[in-house]
Amino acid sequence: KTGGVAQQAGQGSLLQRVGGLDVVRKVVELFYKKLYADPRLILFLHDQDVMHLRAKQSAFVSWLFGPPNVPYVGRSVRIAHLRIIKQRGFTPEDFDLGMKYFEEAMKDLGAPEALMGEVMRRMWPFKDAFFAPSPKDAEEEA
Ligand code: HEM
Repeated sequence: KTGGVAQQAGQGSLLQRVGGLDVVRKVVELFYKKLYADPRLILFLHDQDVMHLRAKQSAFVSWLFGPPNVPYVGRSVRIAHLRIIKQRGFTPEDFDLGMKYFEEAMKDLGAPEALMGEVMRRMWPFKDAFFAPSPKDAEEEA
């Protein structure tokens, strides 16, 4: 199908294999649609500007679909989500829900299982970073 995700998992960066930037943009768009449509997650998002949020996440997504073996050097996800964790009770279950929507978005756009697995494996380690208290928390809360 046109605009879909490449059917064959193989060589190259995830970005190439997923079908290029266009497809990544579609995945992200659909992901946000799903996040904002969720009656629980909207608690954390209702007062966020979606354009701002997307801009903030773009570095992450570029990394996510970029070449393998490159460490993420962006802003700490703990710090980025500290406010919703501490003030609004964002839980590991909420994180899991977000991950489910990301996976669904890829699936809806026809991503092959193997490729989805790779993307999800790249995302899961951030869960620990989200919920592990850090010495920097106090600084951010001050
Ligand atoms: C940024 C909420 C899931 C990674 C943000 C921001 C919010 C937010 C409000 C903006 C913070 C700011 O303005 O500085 C949420 C909600 C989620 C979710 C409600 C629901 C499940 C995730 C997941 C990941 C993630 C699953 C990655 C595995 C990021 C990153 C940024 C970000 C990398 C940008 C950090 C930066 O460079 O400033 N998120 N998030 N988020 N989020 Fe999430």
